[in-house]
Amino acid sequence: PEPPKKKRKGFFRRLGQLMTLSALGLVGFSAYKIYVDSHPAEQVAPGPDKKTLVILGTGWGSVSLLKRIDSTLYNVIVISPRNFFLFTPLLPSCTTGTIESRSIMEPIRSITRHKEGIVQYIEAEAKDIDMNRRVVTVESVKHDDDIANGEGPLSIRTAEIPFDYLVVGVGAQNTTFGIPGVEQYGCFLKEITDAQKIRQRIMDRIEQAMLPSTTPEERKRLLHMVVVGGGPTGVEFAGELQDFFEDDLKKWIPSIADDFKVTLVEALPNVLPMFSKQLIEYTEKIFSQEKITVMTKTMVKNVTESTIEADVTTPSGERERQVIPYGLLVWATGNAARPLTRKLMSSIPAQKDSRRGLAVNEFLVVNGTDGVWGLGDCTATKYAPTAQVAAQQGLYLARLFNQLAKTEMIEQEIKDLEALAHHAVDESDRRALDSKIDNRTRVLRRNKMLMPFEYSHQGSLAYIGMDRAVADLAFGEGNYSSGGSLTYIFWRSAYLSMVFSSRNRLLVLVDWLKVKLFGRDVSRE
Ligand code: FAD
Ligand code: NAI
Repeated sequence: PEPPKKKRKGFFRRLGQLMTLSALGLVGFSAYKIYVDSHPAEQVAPGPDKKTLVILGTGWGSVSLLKRIDSTLYNVIVISPRNFFLFTPLLPSCTTGTIESRSIMEPIRSITRHKEGIVQYIEAEAKDIDMNRRVVTVESVKHDDDIANGEGPLSIRTAEIPFDYLVVGVGAQNTTFGIPGVEQYGCFLKEITDAQKIRQRIMDRIEQAMLPSTTPEERKRLLHMVVVGGGPTGVEFAGELQDFFEDDLKKWIPSIADDFKVTLVEALPNVLPMFSKQLIEYTEKIFSQEKITVMTKTMVKNVTESTIEADVTTPSGERERQVIPYGLLVWATGNAARPLTRKLMSSIPAQKDSRRGLAVNEFLVVNGTDGVWGLGDCTATKYAPTAQVAAQQGLYLARLFNQLAKTEMIEQEIKDLEALAHHAVDESDRRALDSKIDNRTRVLRRNKMLMPFEYSHQGSLAYIGMDRAVADLAFGEGNYSSGGSLTYIFWRSAYLSMVFSSRNRLLVLVDWLKVKLFGRDVSRE
C-alpha cells in the first residue's frame, strides 16, 4: 500500500505548487495592471492634417469605440454632459448601498488620458447638429455656482464644434408614455443620481413612517415600495430592495417588519418577457418566496402624490380600476428618444418613418447623412437596447475608423507614388514605382472590404434577489437557461470581470465584502 500513498502526496504537492504559482501570477498581473492604470504614458498630439472625429456620449457605445480607436489617426473630441462612464448592470445595487456609486463610475479623463493620441473631452450637452455646416452646437453643463449666480459670468455657455466625422451615442431617456404624475412623483433608474435619489427616498419614507405622529394607515402607505415595469430594471431593483429589507432594515428597524412591502407592477401577463418561459416561472416563484407582490396585467394610468391608479385585467377578462397607495415609486418602463435624437429624426427626411430612434444602415451610418454614425440606445435597430449591443457597435466602429484612416493614408501614398512615376525619367525606376503602386492598390482593396455590423448575442443575465440570478446564455446555435445560486455566482464573476478598470473591480469586491461582514448602511445621506 506504500507506493500509491507516495503518488497521491506527489500529486497534491504539485497541485499546491501549481495553485501557488497561479496565485502569484494573478497578484503579479494585478499589480502590473494597477501600475499601468495609475501611470499613463506621454500622449501624441494630433497633427493638423488629421480629420476631426467628434463622439457624442460617454456611455457603453461611445466608450467602447473610444477604447479601441487608434487616437493617433484622428483629432478625437468627446462631448458629453457626464464626465464618467457608468457600469449600468450594477446600478440597481447602488440603490440600496450594496455597491457604492463611485465603484461603478470610471472618470472619462482617465479613459482619454490612457489613449496614445491626445483626446479632448468637453463637458457639455449637444443641442443641435448642422449637417450642412458640419458643426455640433453644444451647451455647457449647469454647475451649482451657475445656479446660485443665475445668469452670472459662470452661466451656461454655448459653442460650435466642427467635425469631419461624427458619432452619435447619446443613449435614451426614460419613457413615461405621458402618464400624468410619473415625472413629478416617481423616481427613475438610469443614472447614478437616480440611484442616489432612490437610496435617500427609501430611508426618507422609513423615517417618516417611524414618526410618532404618523397614523397606522399612513405608515402602511409610506412603507409600500412600488416598482412599475417588470423588465430587467424593475425586477433587479425589486430583488435588491427586498434583500435590503430582509438582511438589514428588518434587523435595525424591526418595527417596520409588518408594514414594509415591495410590489412589482407589470402591464403584460408576466415579468421579464425577454427571458425563457422556465426562467420567467422561476423568477415569479422566487419573488413569491421573497414576499414580493407581483401584479401582472396591470397597466398604470395615473400617479398622484400618494396613489397609483391602474387598470387591472381580472381573470374573467374585465378591466377594473385599482387605487394603490404608495410611499416610493420607481418607474422602469423602458426607453424613449432623447430631445437631440428627436430633433435629428425630424430634420432628416430619410428619418421620417423612424419612431424609436435614429435609423442606421448595416454600417451604422445614420440614414440620410454623410459621415455621421449612430450607435446604442439612440438608434432603432432589430436588436434590443442593451449594453451588449452598444458595446459591440462601439468596437465595430473603432475598427471601421481605424480602417478608414488607413485607407486614406494608402490612397495618399498611391497618389504620391503615381506623381513620382509620372515624373520618373529612368524606365527601371518607373517600373519599380508601378509595381509598388500595384502592391499598395491590392492592400487598399483589401482594406476597403468592410463587413457590415453583425451582433453576436452572448446571453442575458439578471439578479432576482435572495442571492439568486437567472441566465439565458447563447452556446453556438443553442441556448442554455439556468437560475439559482450558482447562476448568481456566475452573475457576480461575469460582471466583476466586465467592470471598467482594476480600480472599479477592487472597489466592487470591497463593497461586496463590506456588506457581507457589516451589512448595508441604513443612515440617510
Ligand atoms: P448610455 O450608456 O445611456 O450613454 C449615453 C451617453 O450619452 C451618456 O454619457 C450621456 O450622458 C450622454 N448624453 C446624453 N445626452 C447627450 C447629449 N445631448 N450630448 C452628448 N452626450 C449626451 N444592458 C445589458 O446589456 N446588460 C445589463 O445587465 C444591463 N443592465 C442595465 C441596468 C440598468 C439599471 C439600466 C438602466 C440599463 C441596463 N442595461 C443593461 C442597458 C444598458 O445600460 C444600455 O443599453 C446602454 O447603456 C446603452 O448604451 P449607450 O452608449 O447607447 O447609452
Ligand atoms: P423594458 O422595456 O425591458 O421593460 C419595461 C416593462 O414595463 C415592459 O415589460 C412593459 O410591459 C412594462 N410597462 C410599460 N408601461 C407600463 C405601465 N403603464 N404599467 C405597467 N407596466 C408597464 O425596460 P427596462 O427594464 O428599463 O430595460 C430597458 C432596456 O435595458 C432593455 O433592453 C433591457 O433588456 C435592458 N436591461 C437589461 C438588463 C439585464 O440584462 N440584466 C438590466 C436592465 C436593463
